[in-house]
Amino acid sequence: MSTALPDIFTEQEEYSPDTLASLGPLRRLAGVWRSDKGVDINPKADGPERRVYSEYINMQPIDPQSNGPQLLYGLRYHIHINTPEEKITFHDQVGYWLWEPDTGLIMQSLTIPRGQAVLAGGTAKPDDRRISVEARRGDTSFGICSTPFLEEAFRTDYYRIDIDFNDDGSWTYVTRTDLAVHGRTPAFDHRDTNTMRRIAAAKPNPLVNPAIRETGE
Ligand code: HEM
Repeated sequence: MSTALPDIFTEQEEYSPDTLASLGPLRRLAGVWRSDKGVDINPKADGPERRVYSEYINMQPIDPQSNGPQLLYGLRYHIHINTPEEKITFHDQVGYWLWEPDTGLIMQSLTIPRGQAVLAGGTAKPDDRRISVEARRGDTSFGICSTPFLEEAFRTDYYRIDIDFNDDGSWTYVTRTDLAVHGRTPAFDHRDTNTMRRIAAAKPNPLVNPAIRETGE
């Protein structure tokens, strides 16, 4: 049975130029954040390794984006993580958090420099105190793509992040990444958690902020 698609080309004429005022449940993520109390459980040859880490996150609003009639507001983010024991970056991650007000769809697109990209999805209401998105390997909408080495040696089958917005303005995340480590079952539960505290407000998006219109920074 074929389903008639609505007009897929015409963009919405009505949109808010001010992304910070239109982010729905994602508005509490905007800004620059820090914490030294992250906890990572990662896979090592002789068993799980637990590491405490310090984390910096910068989440800045982008101009509204359209896929035909689908209108999205969002934040572009960069996460940088270190540990007290090492100078080298422990974890680096860039991506977007996106919100579609018409449907309540929320998405996180993330890439990490291990050769891995994830698009995770969920739904939320503007005043939700908890938001979650998830992705599964093999799903062509909300899925996980990894380099052939990772597919062979550390296959990511599932990704999920749960974020709780706390009364004091901080937020707490828990990520779960199911890693099928070569030759071992069950899949390894690679987990990270942290509570982020704001150190600076977000800047308005380029459309309403002439100072960053050229570069977006
Ligand atoms: C706060 C977030 C995260 C931290 C601090 C972190 C940290 C780590 C560390 C320390 C390792 C072990 C590295 C090694 O043995 O060389 C690791 C492994 C891995 N992580 Fe994460 N991770 C985070 C989030 C993620 C996410 C979101 C994904 C994917 C969606 C992911 C995918 C992987 C994979 C595939 C491996 C195995 C690769 C390997 O050991 O070579 N990680 N992670």
